[in-house]
Amino acid sequence: GRVAVIMGGRSAEREISLRSGAEVLRGLQAAGVDAFAVDLAADGRDPVAQLLQADFDRAFLILHGRGGEDGTIQGLLEMMHKPYTGSGVCASALGMDKLRCKLLWQGAGLPTPAFAVLDEGADLGAVEARLGYPIMVKPAHEGSSIGMSKVRTRAELEAAFAQATAYDSSVIAEQWVDGPEFTVAVLGHETLPVIRLETPHDFYDFTAKYEAADTAYHFRTALSPEQTESLQQLVQQAFKIAGCHGWGRVDVMMDANGQFQLLEVNTAPGMTDHSLVPMAAREAGISFSQLVVEILRTTGE
Ligand code: DAL
Ligand code: MG
Repeated sequence: GRVAVIMGGRSAEREISLRSGAEVLRGLQAAGVDAFAVDLAADGRDPVAQLLQADFDRAFLILHGRGGEDGTIQGLLEMMHKPYTGSGVCASALGMDKLRCKLLWQGAGLPTPAFAVLDEGADLGAVEARLGYPIMVKPAHEGSSIGMSKVRTRAELEAAFAQATAYDSSVIAEQWVDGPEFTVAVLGHETLPVIRLETPHDFYDFTAKYEAADTAYHFRTALSPEQTESLQQLVQQAFKIAGCHGWGRVDVMMDANGQFQLLEVNTAPGMTDHSLVPMAAREAGISFSQLVVEILRTTGE
């Protein structure tokens, strides 16, 4: 049947999604799949009307951020009885909500950095005392590091909170973990090779993710086989407890004690030519085209 590659949307990650979507479309077509692009909310169009008008049997969802990666489109497709790639409504919503996802992981006994909710009434002195500097300030529902800052003083904390509030009414302060940072892609029931990230930037920010040539991606992770295995197991547990399905990517830091700390799960991770899941697949001997066909296959499970 026909596959709609649904991309774009209204989120702050719209441009990244269009880049991901163009690659996905090319990859599916190269494999002989009858696929076409739906640029959701292009020129201010109504996404619901667009989906109702499109003629397709299955959807490949490559929307990043709110209004696409957060369960809303997934719910609409459920009501339309159209199968789609990736996680369902609840797991997508959780993946888009760093605060509630961390609470879930904590409740399940999985390690994630200490954090505090920042709101108008927040006692910043208490936040500083508990987390210690540096602190990461994050909008709870953004991706691609949009609106995020690493801060070292009260003045920076206040400025970062104000900046994050422009993106989201829900903001968290997270204890800084010194790293290194790892990312692990999940495809079906398997994990793909672990990638260690190295950036000369203050953290793996938007520029480091999509523009900089100075970001290094290592498959020689410097982890022992036992550490690699425990990282992969942690990722599988984090994925499973959030109810994720099909594919995704879990970002993890290692702390000074060698303990892995879960940062977040991405239920529709980037598929641009700078993105991590295609890199990990290539390392496993899976071409981009094979990767997107594999992801598409998980809709039927
Ligand atoms: N949110 C971006 C697209 C990622 O996780 O790759
Ligand atoms: Mg993300």
